[in-house]
Amino acid sequence: MLNDRNILLCVSGGIAAYKACALTSKLVQAGANVRVAMTASAEQFVGKATFQALSRNPIYSDVFEEHDPTKIAHIDVVDTSDLIVVAPATANIIAKLANGIADDFITTSILAAKCPVIVSPAMNVNMLEHPATRRNIETLKSYGYQIIEPGVGNLACGWIGGGRLPESEDLVRIIASQFVPKHLLEKHVLITAGPTVERIDPVRFLSNDSSGKMGVALAEAARDMGANVTLVHGPLQVPVPDGVTAIAVESGQQMLETVLERFATQDIVIKSAAVADYRPKTVHTEKHKKVHGPLTIELEETTDILKELGTKKTHQLLVGFAAETEQLEDHARAKLERKNVDFLVANDVSKRDIGFRSDDNEVVLFRADGSSVRLPRQSKQRLAHELLAYFKEGLR
Ligand code: CTP
Repeated sequence: MLNDRNILLCVSGGIAAYKACALTSKLVQAGANVRVAMTASAEQFVGKATFQALSRNPIYSDVFEEHDPTKIAHIDVVDTSDLIVVAPATANIIAKLANGIADDFITTSILAAKCPVIVSPAMNVNMLEHPATRRNIETLKSYGYQIIEPGVGNLACGWIGGGRLPESEDLVRIIASQFVPKHLLEKHVLITAGPTVERIDPVRFLSNDSSGKMGVALAEAARDMGANVTLVHGPLQVPVPDGVTAIAVESGQQMLETVLERFATQDIVIKSAAVADYRPKTVHTEKHKKVHGPLTIELEETTDILKELGTKKTHQLLVGFAAETEQLEDHARAKLERKNVDFLVANDVSKRDIGFRSDDNEVVLFRADGSSVRLPRQSKQRLAHELLAYFKEGLR
């Protein structure tokens, strides 16, 4: 994932410095060459030897400690880095970076850096919310640095609130996304995800097993490829990703209206949501009381959103999904034609270990020209990147 990428990890002096050890290890496991720079305060929390062992590289901490007289270490290290990550970033280092102060190895190096910089603040919630810190963070954003929003939860200082360093897996994912080629730069991509909810009464509804994982993975991948992403979603079993415009809806009708309003401005529309085909004809405004004997709920057909888009599309690339339990190929090809889509992603939902709710998926991608390609079982994240590469090729 990060093979041969040179990452300079700058660790400043907060309690979350211990989490930077796991981050170093995970980056190395992902194939990166990690060089660690530490502030003097960081060394109060974690010893140099730990980072040295984990990164298998010497540690940078003193700006005057030069081992190679042919180079100036704090300049050379940034000139040979693909990315700089400051994690954890204390209020102090953020203030120094915002104001161009260069009084230790990290601040001197970053002031000379030409490569992208990611800053992951971690501190007490009140420090984070102080206007000085907020202003300094805004200043860093204006320099083009990417700021990772701190997590909310129990802080080491006893306060509960924002200021936690994200888990190392999440940081690795964010770091890896920097290296995704920006093939969808300035493209508008709308993705629908998750199930729809069709109300019977205020406390009951009809829905389905969709978790929304595939749609969310597509939204994240499109975002990482530089697209402007809108995610129209029903209730999801995974968090809504950062950096996308997320619009929560309940019913298929709401999803239809939301998508139609935005359709004209999109380049790619991917309908991965599991939209209910039927909804109760009557929606009770009060809780439906128990009746003795059997109860029949009359259902009426919902509008097929994808089919509707297929009749309206002009320049948009339209992608449908098909969940099938039998005769996958025949049903998928029929859907592709009936709904006038450019690509149809078919998955066999009878296989318990893939598809709905699962973290993995295996699909067959059908194109409008009749050709198809089988994409073997893999994580929904990887699959999302592969699918988008095909969709990008199909852009008009
Ligand atoms: N779809 C839609 N609106 C609906 C039903 C389905 O937009 N009311 C979309 C889905 O988002 C998906 C595609 O149509 O992209 C295929 O959905 P699927 O449920 O597999 O197919 P259906 O057309 O509903 O056919 P069937 O349920 O008979 O397989």
